[in-house]
Amino acid sequence: MITKPKGTYDIYGSEAKKWQYVNDIIDAFCSYYNYDYIRTPIFESTELFHRTSGEDSDIVKKETYDFKDKGERLLTLRPEGTAGVVRSYIENKMYGDAEKPVKLYYNGTMYRYERPQSGRNREFTQFGIEVLGSNDPYIDAEIISLPIRIFEALGLSNLKVNINSLGDKESRKNYTEALIKYLEKDIDNLCDDCKRRLKTNPLRILDCKVDQESNIIKNAPKITDYLNEESKNRFDKVLNYLDALDIDYTIDPNTVRGLDYYDHTVFEIVCDVKELGSSNVIAGGGRYNSLVSELNGPETPAMGFACGIDRLIFALDKLECNINSKKEMDAFIMYVSETEKEHAIYLAQELRLNGFKIELENCARSLKAQFKQADRLNSKFLIILNDADLKNGELNIKDNLTKEETKVKESEIVEYLDMNI
Ligand code: HAM
Repeated sequence: MITKPKGTYDIYGSEAKKWQYVNDIIDAFCSYYNYDYIRTPIFESTELFHRTSGEDSDIVKKETYDFKDKGERLLTLRPEGTAGVVRSYIENKMYGDAEKPVKLYYNGTMYRYERPQSGRNREFTQFGIEVLGSNDPYIDAEIISLPIRIFEALGLSNLKVNINSLGDKESRKNYTEALIKYLEKDIDNLCDDCKRRLKTNPLRILDCKVDQESNIIKNAPKITDYLNEESKNRFDKVLNYLDALDIDYTIDPNTVRGLDYYDHTVFEIVCDVKELGSSNVIAGGGRYNSLVSELNGPETPAMGFACGIDRLIFALDKLECNINSKKEMDAFIMYVSETEKEHAIYLAQELRLNGFKIELENCARSLKAQFKQADRLNSKFLIILNDADLKNGELNIKDNLTKEETKVKESEIVEYLDMNI
């Protein structure tokens, strides 16, 4: 038997129903908040991710699926969605759109070569949004509040927003110098990754998974004390707008995020589900005001976030949030003879095209077994065809709950179902 690759999984049956439900809520909220859907390729040139995520990020160092195609082009399965969206924004000159800012959302599979565990897969799905062309701190607050409102609509509780500001370039430069000075004397007591990062990306030491509990990290200088006037005012405004939107948050100076492109606001939404362990960050994002110009586009302030839908659904399951994943049909059409079958086929199509969820018998079952099948499908009505009724232009309809049977003129079946469903 050929089995699925490690770190991937199949979604089917009631699980697939949950995914559809979650996706429907996401689509609905994105339209309430005026986000347009964007689809970018699942693979992009490898260089794109090296230039966006950063050479020293875990993603680029050890997690990407890289390959050469038959034309010797170096390509990478996308590990995240922001890089592709920014590339597309520049390549398609969306910065010329009259409607500003450009508000986009995506929902698709991403690939990271990680050690599979609950909430961490090699193929996973992210839903994300990116707003390009506005530096208004209100946008930061909108981007933090949108996933919270989606999670609440799904019934998710135990949520916590950790927020921080990495400030502008000047603030980060001053802070990085102070951090290096502080860490240098104790670096031998930190892990090998931290030792390397002291030279390449000292801020990342703050969210090291190995040394998280170390006092060296806990007592490190805080970036919030190094923000210049402008960065501090900006951060205060974001917090004010979050208050106006009634979003609770915790300022966490150690939230720095694993990708190189961030400045100013960064945030993570944590869902407290013990089975998720350290994979309990269900959404995260931040501002990246320099990324578009670094990829040779025009200066464009931007911000976004992404949510791991796999993790979200795992959390919904563990917290026993009630997502109705039961299959439900409006009617099941039953018959025995071949002439009845032809009628059933025609009738099923008519009703489906009128917007009803319809199934018809198609496994040559006995009438008794067809009743059982209708129950399995949770059919509200049974339409039991027989030649005599059909000759009179009538249908025999049974309400599967009350067990009441009625004869309905076939020409009036749509109205009948409309009134009773
Ligand atoms: P990220 O923090 O790398 O950010 O990923 C965002 C979310 O994707 C995580 O919070 C998690 O829920 C989910 N995720 C990441 N890796 C895995 C995995 N191996 N298995 C399951 N779920 C996973 C980004 O990707 C940024 N592009 C977010 C962003 C958008 N920033 C600005 N705009």
